[in-house]
Amino acid sequence: MTLTQLFNQLLTKLSSADVHYGQGNATAEDDVILLLMAVLNVDFETLNQMADRAISASLQAQALDLMVKRIELQRPMAYIVGFSIFAGLKFHVDERVLIPRSPFAELIDKGFHPHMNIQEVDQVLDLCTGSGCIGLALAHYYPHTRVDLADLSAAALAVAEQNRQHLGLTDRCRLIESDLWQNIDQKYDLIISNPPYVSADEHGDLPAEFSHEPAMALVSPMNGLLLPIEILAKAANYLNSAGFLFLEVGYSDMSLQSMLPDVPFEWLEFDYGGQGICVFNRQDLIKYQPYFVAVLESHVA
Ligand SMILES: C[S@@+](CC[C@H](N)C(=O)[O-])C[C@H]1O[C@@H](n2cnc3c(N)ncnc32)[C@H](O)[C@@H]1O
Repeated sequence: MTLTQLFNQLLTKLSSADVHYGQGNATAEDDVILLLMAVLNVDFETLNQMADRAISASLQAQALDLMVKRIELQRPMAYIVGFSIFAGLKFHVDERVLIPRSPFAELIDKGFHPHMNIQEVDQVLDLCTGSGCIGLALAHYYPHTRVDLADLSAAALAVAEQNRQHLGLTDRCRLIESDLWQNIDQKYDLIISNPPYVSADEHGDLPAEFSHEPAMALVSPMNGLLLPIEILAKAANYLNSAGFLFLEVGYSDMSLQSMLPDVPFEWLEFDYGGQGICVFNRQDLIKYQPYFVAVLESHVA
């Protein structure tokens, strides 16, 4: 059997199964590609050049076995193979971290233009870093930057540490265990964050695949918006004067906006899909700080 034949066999099997996508891989084709990269231990470009290559019976069996696991356990493919591709880089992932899928990859590619000149960015904070994918990708592509990776989950930070080492970034990236801002003690030129922003109700309604991801990576109280607003409320304290915050809230963008109707949100647009990243400069964060705090207090009260 050639690789193309095996690809088609796996694709047919997966396409007729009751599974969902959206955790790094948007389609059945993406899942099969990731599976074959793992089984053949090759990168995407190499896989692409192997279409007519004969695949041994034992590798075929391995591939089928993994596919059965994907379908029967409704487990995301990235967890089955143990890695995910984000911003063109390979990240180790397992059930301790969210599977990377953020449109931050596109902002990294564009160097945060036009809001920032990335060449002038030195210190970066990736708050709620999970696997470290966003902060580590930024550090990888912009070798003049120093990036702090913060998360409340020690388990997630252990994965980020694996990725930090694999990418050779131990000298420029630090790991910080912190409940949001609690252990952050310096100012940054750029703060990026993809915090949990799903409401408990929505979480319960998500397809089975999402139950494999840590709930604390997805769910935030106050209809999903507590952590995002806590980030907005204090970010100014941790930004240098010309600094920016880029905050992802995904499809909670409109509910965040309606909870804060007097704040003029700037939502970014993406060429490669995704939504819900807003951007603030420090001056605006200071201007609206009392408002963010008041909204938090009114919901806690
Ligand atoms: C949506 S995931 C994002 C992970 C990663 N940045 C990404 O884009 O794939 C949110 C992360 O926030 C972390 N988190 C949850 N509550 C937190 C808190 N109070 N303080 C810091 N991190 C928190 C979770 O452990 C999880 O790793």
